[in-house]
Amino acid sequence: MLQQLARLLILILIWASVSRAEVLVDFQVAEPPPVPQDTQQCTIQILERTFGSSYGDPEIVQYTPPTDCGPVGSWAGITLNFTVTSNGTQYDRLGIFTFQNVEIWRTSTPEPTPDGIIWTYIKDATRYLPLFSKAGTFILELDNILEEGLTGQYASTLHATFYASSAQHPPAPRADVIIPVTTLANNTGDEASVPPIFSLNVTVPQNAVQIYAELYASGNGDEEFWYFNTANEYLYDLPAGITYGNGPFREVRMLVDGQVAGVAFPYAVIFTGGIVPSAWQPITSYGALDLPTYFIDLTPFVPVLADGQAHNISIDVVSAETNHTINPNWYVSGNLQVITDSSSKPTTGKILVYDVQPYAETTTTGSVGANGDVNVTVSASRKILIESEIISGSGEYTYVVWTQNLEYSNTQYYLDNYNVQNVVQTASGSFASTHNGVLSLNDQFSYPLDINFTVLNSEGTIWDAVIDHSYDRTQLPSPFILGSTITEHQVAYGLFVETSSGNYGNGTSNNTFNYADLNGNTYYRNVNAAYENITYDSIGGTLAASNSFAFPSFNSFAQFVMAKPRLPGGRQTGL
Ligand SMILES: *[C@@H]1O[C@H](CO)[C@@H](O)[C@H](O)[C@H]1NC(C)=O
Ligand SMILES: *[C@@H]1O[C@H](CO)[C@@H](O)[C@H](O)[C@H]1NC(C)=O
Ligand SMILES: *[C@@H]1O[C@H](CO)[C@@H](O)[C@H](O)[C@H]1NC(C)=O
Ligand SMILES: *[C@@H]1O[C@H](CO)[C@@H](O)[C@H](O)[C@H]1NC(C)=O
Ligand SMILES: *[C@@H]1O[C@H](CO)[C@@H](O)[C@H](O)[C@H]1NC(C)=O
Ligand SMILES: *[C@@H]1O[C@H](CO)[C@@H](O)[C@H](O)[C@H]1NC(C)=O
Ligand SMILES: *[C@@H]1O[C@H](CO)[C@@H](O)[C@H](O)[C@H]1NC(C)=O
Ligand SMILES: *[C@@H]1O[C@H](CO)[C@@H](O)[C@H](O)[C@H]1NC(C)=O
Ligand SMILES: *[C@@H]1O[C@H](CO)[C@@H](O)[C@H](O)[C@H]1NC(C)=O
Ligand SMILES: *[C@@H]1O[C@H](CO)[C@@H](O)[C@H](O)[C@H]1NC(C)=O
Ligand SMILES: *[C@@H]1O[C@H](CO)[C@@H](O)[C@H](O)[C@H]1NC(C)=O
Repeated sequence: MLQQLARLLILILIWASVSRAEVLVDFQVAEPPPVPQDTQQCTIQILERTFGSSYGDPEIVQYTPPTDCGPVGSWAGITLNFTVTSNGTQYDRLGIFTFQNVEIWRTSTPEPTPDGIIWTYIKDATRYLPLFSKAGTFILELDNILEEGLTGQYASTLHATFYASSAQHPPAPRADVIIPVTTLANNTGDEASVPPIFSLNVTVPQNAVQIYAELYASGNGDEEFWYFNTANEYLYDLPAGITYGNGPFREVRMLVDGQVAGVAFPYAVIFTGGIVPSAWQPITSYGALDLPTYFIDLTPFVPVLADGQAHNISIDVVSAETNHTINPNWYVSGNLQVITDSSSKPTTGKILVYDVQPYAETTTTGSVGANGDVNVTVSASRKILIESEIISGSGEYTYVVWTQNLEYSNTQYYLDNYNVQNVVQTASGSFASTHNGVLSLNDQFSYPLDINFTVLNSEGTIWDAVIDHSYDRTQLPSPFILGSTITEHQVAYGLFVETSSGNYGNGTSNNTFNYADLNGNTYYRNVNAAYENITYDSIGGTLAASNSFAFPSFNSFAQFVMAKPRLPGGRQTGL
């Protein structure tokens, strides 16, 4: 009997170690949300869904705020836990979380392996507290397709955790109202596809005194690798099928009644099926599970927007080409985080300085060698200055100065009979808004991206790439959203082989990540992976202790079957 029990125990132990070794734990390097741990927490399940053939069939659920973690809306923080498993072969898919018609999280799925993957991402949703304070519709759009050769389903669970406030942990600062700048669809995700420009009539409360706009934007289709697209002037110096046109420069703009109010030079998120998928297992590219967003101060437009009328708010994405056209498509959305006055009387004021050009200043240069080499550089710079005075219904006067200074450069090298396709890109900038001289929004960013992509055989079925990119950003999104500094550097290498019996590859990934915020929280993680295995992992900082969880080492194999990757410029491989 005892012997049998012991044997059973050993069997269970073997089973447990084998099953842990088989399922790959994917992750994106990120800070654990800076929410209090030593307070009451209430967790509710928002949705559970296996996304199989889910194209055009999102998960739509009704949300009701929890009442067991203090008064509704008084929370010190909110986090979302998205945990997903998948087996088989599948593309990465975009996931869009829409809550009360506001996009609150854009993610993408790591590509599964036949033996299975699992990932968890914990997202700080505190800035959407006004939405979580009332009942409403929650939609997760995850358009997956099952077909011959694409078998992976995404078994997904989403939980929300609410952190009770206390004397020690006051209720989180928050907007009074969040207004969607989205398609407002109730039966799918609310992102808009551009081009053409997306516009919506928006009515803002007449006692609005501050407005901060958050922008979501990511390239898709012929724009997935927008930084590899070539200026039209040099497109015909290259053979067909190597790259798309309309150049690599992309500016996301928000306009109010046709006037540019603010812009963003986007960070390039590389999805796990991008360029060389073997580089992104188990560590995804930075941002793949939580795409960065961009904040602009729309307060200078309060005198225009607070007149009780509907105004035309637009979002588009433009290029450095003469007609500013881009390819299909980008998915964009926005939301306005609004602070209202204690008085219900309308806000007044006027725009005093508006020094904004519709488009960035850009230059394109290049050279074409006798051997067919083509090098092209596109540069852009952008300055925005808007000043306004705002007089609240309760009589408070605010002088607002909103400035943006941005720089961009992208050089593409097509070498060695187009087998080498390299990109060296930088986007950097400085956004600042002051309200009566006090800094209200700040964004200092630098997003260098360096990709060397090389086709290694004449059939085009073997290639490798090294991707060296960083996300260095000090950001105060608004006075009521916690400011932070992130310095993140990732160097990933992947080799990929396509054969008629399947695709395989392997890769390495080195990451250094540092986080610090204005509440004194810190976190760092230096983590390296080689051939599906974590080879080095050092985690620390004040946020590490309560939130860290161990990643199992992974011994079973160094390479495995993957879906057909997507290549720069829509390059087709030999198969
Ligand atoms: C996230 O949710 C999963 C279940 O869906 C759970 O196993 C896991 O412990 C949760 N992680 C955290 C940090 O709450
Ligand atoms: C993947 O396989 C594991 C182990 O058989 C199973 O527990 C899990 O439910 C599967 N997940 C999906 C999404 O099919
Ligand atoms: C979605 O539902 C809201 C609330 O019922 C409604 O105001 C809105 O018009 C609906 N949107 C669309 C696109 O039908
Ligand atoms: C906004 O409203 C105006 C008039 O009320 C209408 O002409 C226009 O088509 C609307 N625009 C959008 C984008 O809905
Ligand atoms: C809203 O503004 C955009 C940008 O100027 C413009 O393309 C669009 O036609 C405008 N829509 C309406 C209804 O005026
Ligand atoms: C912009 O210019 C490109 C290249 O000349 C052309 O193919 C495209 O049709 C133009 N797009 C628009 C919207 O005019
Ligand atoms: C393009 O740049 C590469 C790398 O710097 C250089 O070797 C090559 O000569 C350049 N070719 C042309 C045509 O400028
Ligand atoms: C990438 O290519 C560029 C241009 O050819 C070259 O200068 C650089 O050294 C290469 N980087 C790596 C990591 O191979
Ligand atoms: C990576 O894959 C290549 C091509 O299959 C193979 O030659 C190489 O040995 C692999 N490297 C490791 C460490 O598994
Ligand atoms: C990545 O880290 C490993 C050690 O974990 C080191 O041997 C290797 O040189 C690093 N590679 C890069 C590109 O930094
Ligand atoms: C993964 O790492 C563990 C622990 O360092 C090591 O024992 C194992 O051999 C490694 N597996 C592979 C496939 O490199």
